[in-house]
Amino acid sequence: MCGIVGYVGHSAGRVNTGHNALDVVLEGLRRLEYRGYDSAGIAVVADGTISSRKKSGKLSNLIAELDASPLPESLTGIGHTRWATHGGPTDQNAHPHLADEGKLAVIHNGIIENFAELKLELTRKGVTFLSETDTEVAAALLADIYRNQLGGDSANGGLTKAMQLACQRLEGAFTLLAVHADQPDVVVAARRNSPLVVGLGDGENFLGSDVSGFIDYTRRAVELGQDQIVTITADTVEITDFYGAPAEGKEYHVNWDPASAEKGGFPSFMEKEIHDQPDAVLQTLLGRSDINGRLTLDELRVDPELLKNVSKIIVLACGTSAYAGQVAKYAIERWCRIPTEVELSHEFRYRDPIVDENTLIVSISQSGETMDTLMAVRYAKEQGAKTVSICNTNGSTIPRESDAVLYTHAGPEIAVASTKAFLAQITAAYLLGLYLAQLRGNKFQGEIKDILADLNKIPAKIQQVLDNEEQIKELGRSMADAKSVLFLGRHVGFPVAMEGALKLKELAYIHAEGFAAGELKHGPIALIEEGQPVFVVVPSPRGRDSLHAKVVSNIQEVRARGARTIVIAEEGDEAVKAYAEHVFYIPETPTLLAPLLSTVPLQIFALALASAKGYDVDQPRNLAKSVTVE
Ligand code: F6R
Repeated sequence: MCGIVGYVGHSAGRVNTGHNALDVVLEGLRRLEYRGYDSAGIAVVADGTISSRKKSGKLSNLIAELDASPLPESLTGIGHTRWATHGGPTDQNAHPHLADEGKLAVIHNGIIENFAELKLELTRKGVTFLSETDTEVAAALLADIYRNQLGGDSANGGLTKAMQLACQRLEGAFTLLAVHADQPDVVVAARRNSPLVVGLGDGENFLGSDVSGFIDYTRRAVELGQDQIVTITADTVEITDFYGAPAEGKEYHVNWDPASAEKGGFPSFMEKEIHDQPDAVLQTLLGRSDINGRLTLDELRVDPELLKNVSKIIVLACGTSAYAGQVAKYAIERWCRIPTEVELSHEFRYRDPIVDENTLIVSISQSGETMDTLMAVRYAKEQGAKTVSICNTNGSTIPRESDAVLYTHAGPEIAVASTKAFLAQITAAYLLGLYLAQLRGNKFQGEIKDILADLNKIPAKIQQVLDNEEQIKELGRSMADAKSVLFLGRHVGFPVAMEGALKLKELAYIHAEGFAAGELKHGPIALIEEGQPVFVVVPSPRGRDSLHAKVVSNIQEVRARGARTIVIAEEGDEAVKAYAEHVFYIPETPTLLAPLLSTVPLQIFALALASAKGYDVDQPRNLAKSVTVE
């Protein structure tokens, strides 16, 4: 939550790189806007003063403000795009917040938990506050330390020292960036439990909440650890801990292309990302098995003996990623015979869970920064569990703090509502399940090879679903007035139903619920009235356990009560036609793998319906892509 950018370019007297801080910071904010869009603001240091602009609403409002009232050219700047926590999304609460008589500007991502007590202390010293934010308190604390404790003397450690001392007093989660008019060539940043990455340029350096904040300028990035301070100038990057002890950052190369974070001719990132899905699944599968159908997950780097002894798996995730976990549970239990629980990360550590050294924690997170999941993983590690992360964001915190990582290779996901990351997560979880089955001997090699062969056919089948998207788009557009839509599924179709409902809630702001079809008669069927739209995810008629027949009965039950039924079924399933007003066919595939196909029409439906209502599908209201607060 909240996007942060910092930039320092060449100082006077050296070859100018030609980058005006304002342009660099604005470009970074444009790419990071998915992290929050309640307000945006920028501060630059020029001619010995700080100049800043900030505006509530989306970045476009700030750009309009900058057009009306331009900022001076500068080589040092910071910028922020906000997801509101303390204080509403107003101009006044927007970042940057100024202190030290306007000479210091601060931006922040996270929550400072002891802000109230610090505010009281500073108020007693005579500080007045203009906003309701915790950030302004951090700015005032920094200013107080810089001016009153260090004498406002850059020889005394200046802003870096002040930041170290301030961080020693702050509690909670934060990334802070500060610039001071006294040190025009410097940006100082601090990180505790919130993301921050350094970008290394040639005669210029960058800071970003993630690499997209500077991807247009450099692919060289440096990971920061927890509780670290970084001071950047155009030519130097110095890292310390909160007590001034020098620290090392780990440099890595960003291997995605800036073009992959563009819309590529689609009207929205979401639509583009839905269309990226064949490739997202393909990339996640690539290089992870050999021609004999043996899984080669060498990257996992967990002692195979440990994995053989796992007695329980707990999948930790939130939202869409948790639904990916629920799909994984069906597959892992079937293939590996290991009891698998799926738990929402934020519930996990507050219920005294039973975890020991034979428990394998599998966290699933697109961003790798979700605070709820990070905290749950840390808790599980403290209890002695082994932790594996399934993650889409290279170098992010959750994989770094886990014992092992299986990256999904979906590429950058910019639209706030997750699509391609979901399919890639399910794919990675299947690979993990098959790997465990291989290690533990639960499946013959031939069986694993067959499942892998089915998995390898999935990208082309997703493409087939996409090629028929017009039919589902049309339905979505025609239902723009719907007030409520229900989704039913059984077995792996249940998490798919919940994901379909979540997509509709977050994009179209209408009531939507996903139910286990078998649960209907235990209560939810009371919701059905004449004309109520109900999507039903129907399992393959070729599957076992008469699952198909059960779901067809559920369709009949809701139809008998007036529901308008829309069915996602497997090609060739003629039986469902009699009970559905609309049928969308997906290619034949084994039941356990079907979520990789049946989810896609539901994503397209939500996209089309929300677009017909005129909503911004990339940036739905009240949401942010990366949820870095608990
Ligand atoms: C919904 C969505 C969210 C995320 C959730 C977890 O479309 O995107 O529900 O899935 O916030 O985020 P990650 O996967 O980054 O941990």
